[in-house]
Amino acid sequence: MQPLLLLLALLLPLGAGTEEIIGGHEAKPHSRPYMAFVQFLDKGKKKRCGGVLVHKYFVLTAAHCWGSSVKVTLGAHNIQKQEKTQQVIPVKTAIPHPDYNPKNYSNDIMLLKLERKAQQTAAVRSLRLPGTKNREASLEVQRDRLCESLFHGYYSGATQLCVGDPKEMKTGFKGDSGGPLVCNNVVQGTFSYGKPDGTPPGVFMKVSHFLPWIKRTMKRL
Ligand SMILES: *[C@@H]1O[C@H](CO)[C@@H](O)[C@H](O)[C@H]1NC(C)=O
Repeated sequence: MQPLLLLLALLLPLGAGTEEIIGGHEAKPHSRPYMAFVQFLDKGKKKRCGGVLVHKYFVLTAAHCWGSSVKVTLGAHNIQKQEKTQQVIPVKTAIPHPDYNPKNYSNDIMLLKLERKAQQTAAVRSLRLPGTKNREASLEVQRDRLCESLFHGYYSGATQLCVGDPKEMKTGFKGDSGGPLVCNNVVQGTFSYGKPDGTPPGVFMKVSHFLPWIKRTMKRL
């Protein structure tokens, strides 16, 4: 089964910065109801990321998307418009992984606890986290060795997934951070980083590795 490399399939405002999708296509409206659009302030500058709704109160994203005034938009097709399906919810608490290291992007994963719960609708629905027994074999994951050599000193196969065929122009780019890698309706990865030119492969955080932390944190909050 082909994994779904879900890039931030929302139409981003033009001229707002460097965000772009490479080799992507516009998604069918609301066919990915778990996609979240994360906006925040980083030293006063507006930034944005992707994320995935994993519970009515929680969005999973990348730790480097941490900032102030974080808010999440769910149920959007075109983020430039005010659509009836959209739910804009401020974030009450942003919890980056305690071992996140901004120097080498290790443990680049973060949970956002929403101020109020997301209403489940046709356009908004949470995605399942992998079970502890889940197999990752069906993912078209590139050899760890490839990412180890490309991202030497950054990539770790224990906690990250190396995704995307270098022969195909399809991977994440700036603005897609935190966006999910979905396989069999389960979130297996959240996008962390890729090459500066946006060509594959890209590096996703391995959600299964972080399950104990995710479960513990969601319970605590
Ligand atoms: C990233 O840095 C941390 C802290 O120095 C270190 O423990 C970890 O092994 C590094 N990760 C990689 C992939 O080198």
